[in-house]
Amino acid sequence: KRKIIIDCDPGIDDSLAIMMALSHPDIEVLAITIVAGNAPVEMGFSNAKKILKFMNRLDIPVFKGADKPLKRNYINALDTHGIDGLGESFLEEVEGYQQKEDAISYLSKILRKEKCSVIAIGPLTNLALLMEKDKEAFDCIDQFISMGGNYKSHGNCSPVAEYNYWCDPDAASMVFNSGKRIHMVGLDVTRKIVLTPERLEYMKKENGKVGKFVEKITKFYFQFHLEWEHLVGCVINDPLAIAYFIDSSICSGFDSYVQIETQSISIGQSIVDDHNFYRKQANAHILTQVDVNKFFEMFYECLLRRIK
Ligand code: BDR
Ligand code: CA
Repeated sequence: KRKIIIDCDPGIDDSLAIMMALSHPDIEVLAITIVAGNAPVEMGFSNAKKILKFMNRLDIPVFKGADKPLKRNYINALDTHGIDGLGESFLEEVEGYQQKEDAISYLSKILRKEKCSVIAIGPLTNLALLMEKDKEAFDCIDQFISMGGNYKSHGNCSPVAEYNYWCDPDAASMVFNSGKRIHMVGLDVTRKIVLTPERLEYMKKENGKVGKFVEKITKFYFQFHLEWEHLVGCVINDPLAIAYFIDSSICSGFDSYVQIETQSISIGQSIVDDHNFYRKQANAHILTQVDVNKFFEMFYECLLRRIK
């Protein structure tokens, strides 16, 4: 099995990503680390536990990391994810499960010990803090996949910026300058992953338990997309990062040098030097195409056929 750590900010689509990862037979989730993003870190921590409980996997450790971006004021995305960060599903809290160790020290220990990949589906603050604390451990990360950024697609926080990089641009910039090759699963591909009412109906028909649970946590998200984007359905970004890790042939793209803007009106923008103006070596693999049907086959296979 390939080992992974999911660094996330659950978050509705983060939760779907966790569910997908936990139900795939080829991967082993060593831990979930939480960062302030969609939801404040404490809330993200409690949401991760709620998802683990649903999945019957409370054996997986969850570690709390950064409670705010490196330098900027923290702006959550509860307007998109609901006041409980889980689509106002108000699932029952999971009691009696505490974790004293913080995410950064956990990462620094485990990465030195185990060959494992990091799938980061929230702001990159925890990973930047790890770089500061223990660059050697950071360098041990096998594959680094980051849901974030955008190439030709418009942003979702400004005309040019995507939330995860916009929320903590300094952290994103550090990670892109780390020397590690970043697989950038940006809005160009994730915006094509739309959970439509028809797809949700199908899910409910095929697996009532999972279908109803997904409906519960995505209802608010559907409403948000309808109001803000006049889109019937909701974009589920984060599970694509998991699907890409499982089977990279689901997406295609190109290597390029990428820089993250940290200052100006275009703060958080991922500037992809596709014409090689800067004459810098590529630091990222930018995904531009995705096989949507294949994604949903994988998604259904994991959620509907493997979760009982
Ligand atoms: C990203 O921001 C969050 O709203 C989602 O969870 C995803 O990680 C998309 O911009
Ligand atoms: Ca996320």
